[in-house]
Amino acid sequence: MNTKTTRTRLLLERACPLLRCPACLRLRLEVLTSGPTGLACDACGRVFIHADGVLNLYTGPELFTGAQRSLQSRMLTALYERFRWLLAKAIIGCTSEEEVDRFERTPDLKTGDALLDVACGPGNFTLPLARRAAPGLVIGLDISPAQLARAAANVARADVDNVLLVRGDVHRLPLRDGAVPKVNCAGGLHQFPDPAKALDEIARVLSMGGRFSGSTLQRHPSPRTLPLQEWLYRRWKVHFVDLAGFRALVERAGLANYRHEPAPIPWFGYYQAAKA
Ligand SMILES: C[S@@+](CC[C@H](N)C(=O)[O-])C[C@H]1O[C@@H](n2cnc3c(N)ncnc32)[C@H](O)[C@@H]1O
Repeated sequence: MNTKTTRTRLLLERACPLLRCPACLRLRLEVLTSGPTGLACDACGRVFIHADGVLNLYTGPELFTGAQRSLQSRMLTALYERFRWLLAKAIIGCTSEEEVDRFERTPDLKTGDALLDVACGPGNFTLPLARRAAPGLVIGLDISPAQLARAAANVARADVDNVLLVRGDVHRLPLRDGAVPKVNCAGGLHQFPDPAKALDEIARVLSMGGRFSGSTLQRHPSPRTLPLQEWLYRRWKVHFVDLAGFRALVERAGLANYRHEPAPIPWFGYYQAAKA
């Protein structure tokens, strides 16, 4: 067995106690010890392959909104990765260092913490968070193969051994109840077709006292911008989240201590909560 396969199997061994089968939802996943690298469910028999740096725990359906589709394209994914930090400066009003710093501080990340980075995209936050949490395991989960391919290249380049990239859907997270003490979701919420369901899932996989932090496009305070936001929703299913109203969904999902604040530019905002 070569070193890469051995490293991947060790990573899967570490992740197994946090995962559940995305098909039958049972807790009987086991690492394949021969043949392809991946996991098998001892209950339903499904096999989930780890290939090209990504464990595929997505069970479909392959139906995507306009916003989700845009980030499946290789070209847009490459552009997004390249210009994300410039966009951050223009749309969010802060530098990449300030944003990374915020996401390291908000969930109060400590050495050894396990963390789920939902909607990880190319790993813009996954890698800095993994450096902070090491040797804690960081799971970067996204639905888009193109985004995950970029993330896999970035993880390989960074040569870290505590990041597992997973293809999965936030509406049906392949993690056990109470699996992780920290969940991060940078720039994901406005893309999720059903934010309330996504939130229920995030709350389910958080352990008691666990912290959830994120950022999202948010509703602009000026009524003049409403037609544009409504058009973007109709055309691309991009939500402009009302972060004040979001409190009700957060609390309904069983999370407490909800706080939110706008970015320097009001189209974007940050939020955090904890599992009570
Ligand atoms: C704007 S990107 C954010 C990427 C990264 N977190 C960042 O801040 O640079 C939003 C990501 O959400 C992912 N996404 C959209 N719908 C999803 C879903 N249902 N489950 C998991 N990820 C999803 C997209 O594929 C995309 O990579």
